[in-house]
Amino acid sequence: MKLAAPAKTNLFLEVPRRRPDGFHELDTVFVALELADELELTRLGEGRLELTLEGAGPDVPADASNLVWRAADALRQAAGRPELGAALHLRKRIPAGGGLGGGSSDAAAALRGLDQLWGTGLGAERLATLAAGLGSDVPFFLRGGLQRGRGRGEVLQPLPPAAPLHLVLILPGFPCPTPQVYRDLAPHLPAPGDVRDPGPLLSALSWGDARGVGAALWNRLELPAFARWPRLRELRDLLRARPGVTGALLSGSGSTLFALCAREADAVRLAGELTQEGLMALATRTASRSEGN
Ligand code: C5P
Repeated sequence: MKLAAPAKTNLFLEVPRRRPDGFHELDTVFVALELADELELTRLGEGRLELTLEGAGPDVPADASNLVWRAADALRQAAGRPELGAALHLRKRIPAGGGLGGGSSDAAAALRGLDQLWGTGLGAERLATLAAGLGSDVPFFLRGGLQRGRGRGEVLQPLPPAAPLHLVLILPGFPCPTPQVYRDLAPHLPAPGDVRDPGPLLSALSWGDARGVGAALWNRLELPAFARWPRLRELRDLLRARPGVTGALLSGSGSTLFALCAREADAVRLAGELTQEGLMALATRTASRSEGN
């Protein structure tokens, strides 16, 4: 069985406050991208799990610490069937450590695929609970498409599918560790009256207005990330100034940035130009249709 595990970005990410459990309360708009990893699953006997990787950098572990492995193990434990086994082959295309949710998406694909392959029949709700235990972004990837995320990011509300948006991703070449970015956020948290609302973004999405979407992009995590890595602000400003770009933003907790382009041709041209200039850039688009909408 082969499954696509898409990347994501956040078109809007506000952090109203830190929670007593150490996580942060989010109000975010997740969107799946066409850029995707591929996970291939084959049944094995006697409780054996095997993981092989293709195209992964040295930072992606090929052992029981990989989120895909942990997903497989959590699923068979939850089903009370430790004898289930599988070979998992992961073809990585999503850059790791980049705020594109690659590891989380791989884990969600493992849950979806193995639930079918093993016939565990846990049901959507228990799968979502398992997903949330693996990471805050994993439940989004069980559904995909376009979703508003609250709580830690796991309380999801599907949004109506929107016209594809054309993006250029820029990979700055260094990782931004997510826990570090959240730790640095403390002095940048909004006062209660300054918490931003995704309303303008959601309206622009529903109108298919790429300029309006570009103007309404927001990511609170830019403040701590730009303070620690000033190069990220330079890159975002450089993207904003390019012709055909309607907005640019840090993706999740970084380090990937994206430029939103008015048209597909602008995105393809911009990715080509940035590559010529020595940056790591690639054009992709959103895949906003989720399971069930
Ligand atoms: O849930 P996940 O393992 O992806 O989170 C990684 C880290 O990001 C957490 O340990 C926490 O430091 C931070 N985080 C947070 N609030 C969230 C999501 C993540 O503080 N809503």
